[in-house]
Parts: sequence; structure tokens; C-alpha cells
Amino acid sequence: MKKVLKNNVSWVGYMDWEIKKFHGDDFTINHGSSQNAYLLEYDKTVLIDTVWTPHRFDFVENLKKEIDLKKIDLIIMNHGEADHSGALPALMAEIPETPIYCTAAAVKSLEGQYGQNGWNFHVVKTGDSIEIGPGRTLTFVEMKMLHWPDSMATFLSGDNILFSNDAFGQHYAVAELYNDLADQCVLYQEAVKYFVNIVHPFCIFLSKKLAEIAALNLPIEMIAPSHGVIWRDNPAQIVEKYALWANAYQEDQITIAYDTMWEGTAKIAHALAAAIKEASPQTVVKIFHIAKTDKNDLMTEIFKSKALLVGSPTACNDMLSSVAGMLSFTKSLRFRNKKAAAFGCYGWSGEAVKNIQSALKDAGFNVLEETVKSFWNPTEETLNQVPALVEALLKEDK
Ligand code: FEO
Repeated sequence: MKKVLKNNVSWVGYMDWEIKKFHGDDFTINHGSSQNAYLLEYDKTVLIDTVWTPHRFDFVENLKKEIDLKKIDLIIMNHGEADHSGALPALMAEIPETPIYCTAAAVKSLEGQYGQNGWNFHVVKTGDSIEIGPGRTLTFVEMKMLHWPDSMATFLSGDNILFSNDAFGQHYAVAELYNDLADQCVLYQEAVKYFVNIVHPFCIFLSKKLAEIAALNLPIEMIAPSHGVIWRDNPAQIVEKYALWANAYQEDQITIAYDTMWEGTAKIAHALAAAIKEASPQTVVKIFHIAKTDKNDLMTEIFKSKALLVGSPTACNDMLSSVAGMLSFTKSLRFRNKKAAAFGCYGWSGEAVKNIQSALKDAGFNVLEETVKSFWNPTEETLNQVPALVEALLKEDK
């Protein structure tokens, strides 16, 4: 059922309470999500985005209850990824001549996913606009690499709503729709998790794009993304957070992430945590067992941190596979401005620590030479390496 946001603008998306994974199984969802689509009913009737493929028939049937589909004058596809375009083929089967406005890259994306169906594409670029009624103009803003090459936002003047697609979203189902009606703690955590895991790899483009949007002087009163809450209360707050998060963000936090075979490396992890806390009581210290921790939540904690300590025993001449996977994921998210160090136990050859250091360097961390390496289980002598590592970790860089 449609929900009116403002004047003739309604939400017609899908509130997905059951979803637990996204991007295949690569992103965990803890509080549901939504695929937000919007219906604008002025002189022209406009649909902005659709929903994910499994909900395509519900979407089309629900839309039919609200409007004669033939009244839709145009469809705007802000982004071609399947969570927004999945219902497009079912919709186009009903209204095959309807113009689809999107970027040139989105045409390739949509044809690549759904085939060349002869759809009536209208390619748009930043600054292009369409009048849809008195005082109502839609203006397009390309959002290339935020987070796909085809991404775009659409601004509706008069109602002053920015339909930002994935940017400024969260995977968080809020039936009440608006940011001020959501649980603020969950909203913040889901917004930052989404930013870290989906947007952060491309944040070198973000600062420039935010400046470009600011230069357009759009009187934004509401930001309506394609997932999660609609920002109606102080919408600038999420833009300000993105600007902050995109700029080598860190808090006074140190994250210790490890895996262990027979608890020796776990003991080092806890000894490091205790020593950091003693030397710097105000620093937030968090310990995670990599194989038992949600990887997207772990990435969020690493993002918040000023330093990451990674531990693994040596097995088969290398770190454990969970640690290797975590480091590979960390590299793909392109964190900056963070220290890192390695630790671990070994009984034979002991390559894990050096290989972790190498992977951390490769992932862009400033890696300390100091380590804690323990031949078999940690002893008092082994743990004598802890203070030097902690001192180097806490030393202010000039
Ligand atoms: Fe929400 Fe890039 O899809």
C-alpha cells in the first residue's frame, strides 16, 4: 500500500522484514531492510525505482491497486542493481512502451541483466531535467561509483526531495518510514555498517561528489534513499556523517581480531587488550574471534578504529584461512590512516605473523615492526614482547 510522504509523492516499495543476507550472502542484515520505490503523481506520473526480484509480482500487483499502470508516464531507474530493478521486467511486460530514464551505464546494466528487450531508454546526465507539473521539476545527478558506475540521484523541486538511491541508505526495516521515528542507536549502527561495507571502497569519489551536490544549492528538505529510513528530520545529518566518514575516519578505538587453534593466540589477544587498557584507559578496546564474528560487523569496528591487531597461529606454513579471508575483505574496503600489528603462536615454522604483516601492508595499513610471537603456548617470557608493541601502537605519530 502506498504511503504519502509529501503532497503527491508516495512510497510504494517493499518492507523486507525477512531478509537476512544481501549481495548474495556477503552482507548480513540484522534488522530487516526495505527496497524503497516512489510514485510521483503530478501532471506526469513518475515511478522512481522498483524492488528486488523475489518481490516483483507483489510489487506490480500492489502498484495496480494504487494506479492504472498505463498512467505511468515515465520510470526513473536511479540504479540497475537487481534490488532496485528486479521488478522492472514484470512491470515492463504490462507497459512495454513506457520511457525509462537512466544513465548510459544503467542501460548497459539493465540490458546485461535482463536482455535487449527494446525498452524505451532515455539516457540522462547530471543537470538534465524534466518538468512533471506546476513547480515540480526532476533534476538528475550522476552518482558514478556511489556505489556502481550507473548510480544516479534525482531531485524533485517544489517538494525538495532528493531520491538518492543507495547513497545515505541503511539495511534497516522501519515501518514508520522516517528517521525520527526509528531507534536512533540501531539507525546509526546500520547506517555506518552500510557505509563501511558498501560505500567505503569508493569514498575517494565521495568527497568530490558531496561538494558537487552542495554546489548545486539544492534546497533539500528530505532525503529518500532506496533502503531504510527516509531522512526528513535534519536530512543534512547523514550528508555530514558521510563527509566525516569518507575522510580517513577513526575513533579512539583499537580492535583486536584473531583466530586460534588451541587458545594460545587467544591468550596473546587478551594480554594485548589488558596492556592497552592499562596504558590508555580512555581507549576503547574490542576483541573479536574472527571465525565466530559477523564479518560485516567486524569491518565496521575496524573502520571505527585507529589501529587493528591481527592474530593467528601458524598452520600449514600460513595464517588460518579465516584470518586470510578477513584480511582479503579488509583490503577490498580500502581503509586509510590506521596502524596495525600482528601476533600469534607457532610450534614449527611460524610464518603466520610475517604473512599477516605483509597482508596488512597490502591492505593499506601502517604496520608496526613490533610483534608478539610465541613458540608454543605464551609464557611470561613471550608476553614480555607485549609492552613494546603497545608502546609503538599508542605512540602519537608526528
Ligand atoms: Fe541497493 Fe546497489 O543496490
